[in-house]
Order: sequence, then structure tokens, then C-alpha cells
Amino acid sequence: MDELRRAGVRAAEIAAAHLEGVAAGPVWQPVPAAERAWLGELPLPAAGRPLDALLDDVRAHVLPYPMGNGHPRFFGWVNSPPSPAGVVVEPLAAALNPSCAGGDHAGPLLERTVVRWLAELVGFPHPPGGGLLTSGASMATIVCLATARQHAALADGWDAREDGLHGRPPMILYVTEEGHSCLHKAAQLLGLGARNVRKVPVDASFRMDVGALRTMIADDLAAGLRPFCVAGSAGTVNSGAVDPLDAIADVAAEHGLWFHVDGAYGALGVLDAVSAPAYAGLDRADSLALDPHKWLGVPVGCGCALLRDPAAARAAFSLVPSYLVDDSADDLGWFAEYGPEQTRPFRALKTWATMSYLGREGVTRLVEHTSGLARTLAAMVEKAADFELLAPVATSITAFRHTPTTTGPGGLDALNRALPGAVQARGNTFLTGTRLGGRDALRACFLHPDTTEDDLAILLEEIRLAAKTL
Ligand SMILES: Cc1ncc(COP(=O)(O)O)c(C=O)c1O
Repeated sequence: MDELRRAGVRAAEIAAAHLEGVAAGPVWQPVPAAERAWLGELPLPAAGRPLDALLDDVRAHVLPYPMGNGHPRFFGWVNSPPSPAGVVVEPLAAALNPSCAGGDHAGPLLERTVVRWLAELVGFPHPPGGGLLTSGASMATIVCLATARQHAALADGWDAREDGLHGRPPMILYVTEEGHSCLHKAAQLLGLGARNVRKVPVDASFRMDVGALRTMIADDLAAGLRPFCVAGSAGTVNSGAVDPLDAIADVAAEHGLWFHVDGAYGALGVLDAVSAPAYAGLDRADSLALDPHKWLGVPVGCGCALLRDPAAARAAFSLVPSYLVDDSADDLGWFAEYGPEQTRPFRALKTWATMSYLGREGVTRLVEHTSGLARTLAAMVEKAADFELLAPVATSITAFRHTPTTTGPGGLDALNRALPGAVQARGNTFLTGTRLGGRDALRACFLHPDTTEDDLAILLEEIRLAAKTL
């Protein structure tokens, strides 16, 4: 234990020094060939090595080559910096090393609390047992859509788990053209078939066209198919758009469809007073995917599936063999009965720590600050002659493109497609691209509490400088 104590103290110092130094270093740098070889081709050591030597290796070969998301000028994809509280308690979760499948110990008890806190934070109904932590939103989406599938089957008098889908009218899922790929992956994995996922068109703000949704459902019913679920987004990854959730909830209620909301990134946006009105109807969803490892900053990985009716998820997943029967469990049973994972890590500790450290007020400040940055960048883009805003700001993402008067042979699309890589290579800031409304676009996602308005000016200048190198 002396070795653990000494190395643990040293690891904490290394972690603190790393985090202290992040903002002064490059946002991202390529891994040099020698380091790439070290990282990728290490032989398995025959004899074990002391903890101190391992820490030396981490400091020399791992910490200098981060993804970049700890830096206040990292605006790529949807990746936040780690919350200090999460960093502090991660080793303690490892020291305890429980499986939170269920049982009578601290992990599952704290998970119930954390799930309730997440639901309370965004104003989602929270019946006891109404949710579970997952690896991320991709897994939360599988939990929610599998629940919806079984719910529809049981309503029709059959059992998808027992019978399989063979010989039944295809079940139809509705997502928008902007819906996240995890919805499609989940549908494919659940045997629904990619061709049975309808891509509902979006309006000029990249929000679901609810009239088109109605038409698609009517067509599918007329064709003898089984519409079963509509998935709206509370914060798309491309532009941060929030679908008209209230109107979608009306359509779902009319047709008896399961209403799922992908709030993996954006559900917390409801805490920003300017953004909040767009979230009306979020509380009418049957299920909500929400990622603590995104806006909240809980260290990766931690997602959450929230469910209006926990019994529906249990009906989709519970399978308790004799060696797992727990006669002393309460009425809600084990977490493992609500999803596909059996052995489950102690995700609740880092989520509890992060939320306790920030409090509701701290989370709200973070969401307001980062949403405000997205709006400020949008205003700067609109003022600049060489940039164009491509979507209204709904959460903390600004979607835009560079529009200098002269471009190379591929025009603005080729330029904006090449820009993220060129900006990243300069090491001063980091953003990623996408396609939006048929055009190549840049998108900046703000999640870091230390990002300032000066960083926004640097971002635009870096894009201009990078463009000159292309
Ligand atoms: C809107 C949205 N939905 C779903 C996901 C998938 O979440 P995860 O990567 O945690 O599985 C993401 C990830 O960025 C996302 O932004």
C-alpha cells in the first residue's frame, strides 16, 4: 500500500499540473512518428513494472498528446473538458470497483439519486427508477428504442423479445434529416431495418417539419406499416437545433407513438433563459437521452436514459437467471434489468461529484456562459464580410462558413471542407466541419467554462490565416 499511496499522490500532482498547463499549450498537436510507434506498438512486458515507472511513461508519452478538449479554444464535435470534481473522484470509484448491476451497496443507491437529479435539472418527470446511467447516448438510445419497440409489440398483442420481428408489419421510426447517427445505428441493431427509418425534412432552422411528419405517418399507415416511434432532437450535433417538441408530442399522442428525445448534447440548454422557450414539450417525452459527459463535463463515459415509465424498460430487458436472483431487492429490482449491460461501472460517483460541485446554479452559469458565446460568435460572423451564418443559434453551437472573395477551384465548399484540418494543424484553436443544408460548413461548439470572447476573435482570425495556406 505504500507504493499505492506514494504513486497516488504523485498521480494527483501530475493530473493537476497537466490541467494547469493545458491552456498555455497547443490545443492539439500531431503525434510524432517515434511517439506514435511507442504508443501503438508497445510489446507486452514479460515482467511487471513499478507504479512510478508507469507514471513516468504517462507523463512522457500520453499527456503531451491529448485530443484537445481540455483546452478553452477547443470547439470540435461535442467534447467538454473534465470537471475537476469528476477527476478527483475517478480514482475512488476505481478503488471501490463495484459492479453497479444492482445489489445493496453505495453504487446503485447513488445512481438512483443522480438519475433523479438529472431529470430534475431538465424538468423531466422522474418516477422512482425512471432511468439509468449508460456508457453514453448511443447506449441510452438503444435502451430507449428497444423499450419503445417492446412497448409497441405488447400493445399489438405480441412480444418482440419472444417472437422476434419476423412476419410482422415493419415498425417505422421517424427522425429528422439532422437526427444523430446513433438513432440509425440503434434502429439497425434492433432489427428495425434502415429502410424503415424515415428521415423527416427540416425547416430553414433545421427543425423537424411537423407537417411532413404527419404526411409520412399517414402514408405509412395507408401502406399497412406500423409507425411506432418519433425521435425529436433537443440540440442537434450539426447546428444545435431544437425540434418543435410540443408539436411532435401532439402528433405522437394522436397516433399512439412513443416520443423519444435525443437531448444527449442539448437537453441542458433548457437552463438558459434565452433558449428555454424552444424546449416546451420536453417533459412530454416518453424517453430522453442525456449525456452527463457532454455539457456537464463529467469525465467520459457517462450517458443517461430517462424513462417516463420505468416498467416499460424493465419489460424490454429484464432477464434474471437463478444465479442473479436477489430476494432482498426492492420493487425496482436491479439496474441490469433496465438495459443490456450486466456488470456496470460506478458512473454515478463522478456524476454526483460534478453536479454537487457545481450545484444547479453552477450548471446554469456554465450553460448560460457557453450559450452566450455561441450567440456572440454568430453576431461577429454576421458582422464580418468574409463569414456567413448558416443556422440560428439555439444552444451553444454556431454553424457558419468562411466566404472570402477568392477561393480555389472547388469554391466555398472545398475551402470549408479543408478548413477544419488546416485550423487544427496550426494548434491555436480547434473546430470541426459538417454539411448543413447541402453546403460544407464549419461548426463551433462551446462547452468550456473558461472560453472567453477573446477566444472567439482568435477563432475567426485563425480561420482566415488557415484559409490563406490552402
Ligand atoms: C446530439 C447527439 N446525440 C447522440 C450522440 C451520441 O452520444 P455518445 O457519443 O455519448 O454515444 C451525440 C454525440 O456527440 C450527440 O451530439
